[in-house]
Amino acid sequence: SIFSISALILAYLCGSIPTAVWIGQAFYGIDVREYGSGNAGATNTFRVLGKKAGMAVMTIDIAKGYTATKLAYFIGLSVTGPHNSSQFVNYELALGVTAVMGHLFPIFAGFRGGKGVATLFGMILAVNLPAAMLCVLVFVVILLVTKYVSLSSICAGFTFPLGIVFVLHSTIKSEVLYSMCVCILILVTHQKNLERLLKGKESKVYLFKRNQR
Ligand code: G3P
Repeated sequence: SIFSISALILAYLCGSIPTAVWIGQAFYGIDVREYGSGNAGATNTFRVLGKKAGMAVMTIDIAKGYTATKLAYFIGLSVTGPHNSSQFVNYELALGVTAVMGHLFPIFAGFRGGKGVATLFGMILAVNLPAAMLCVLVFVVILLVTKYVSLSSICAGFTFPLGIVFVLHSTIKSEVLYSMCVCILILVTHQKNLERLLKGKESKVYLFKRNQR
């Protein structure tokens, strides 16, 4: 319907808000895409501009995915409840993934965006809280142990479908399918990171380093 098409457009526009680029330009006068990994995401903002900016970008990027996913409630697709109808869940996830596409290819920043990890997390948070918690757990443990955000993202990406199927025993087919797609999407957006990881050239992030800007 016209409502669902408008919602998808809205989700894309929401995901398209280039938080890292705008915060960098507005408060630090730089485009984070010219520094560090060149990625317009929370990790690179943290790397280039420090903790405060990184946290802000992460929070807003998570909110983009969450809000876009929850848009389903506002267009009358909530009547059957969140997890009773597979079609509704499909729609929620479709909106979330559309926001992620906006984040990857933002109309407001020359279609050069980020890798979608925070926005995907916002989507997972909106559809399946236990799955989101599992992903966070794995992300944090891998990050504390290895200091590689990219590796943590990839492991969290695998945790989503594996957790949905083997830990949470979800019977929602669309959720299983989408979780697998999310895992593949993270692998695709992290190709350069994977190459660097294999060569031992990936940069590490120290969460508790002093003298952060
Ligand atoms: O947030 C994306 C993260 O997994 C990798 O970012 O900047 O290290 O390529 P980056």
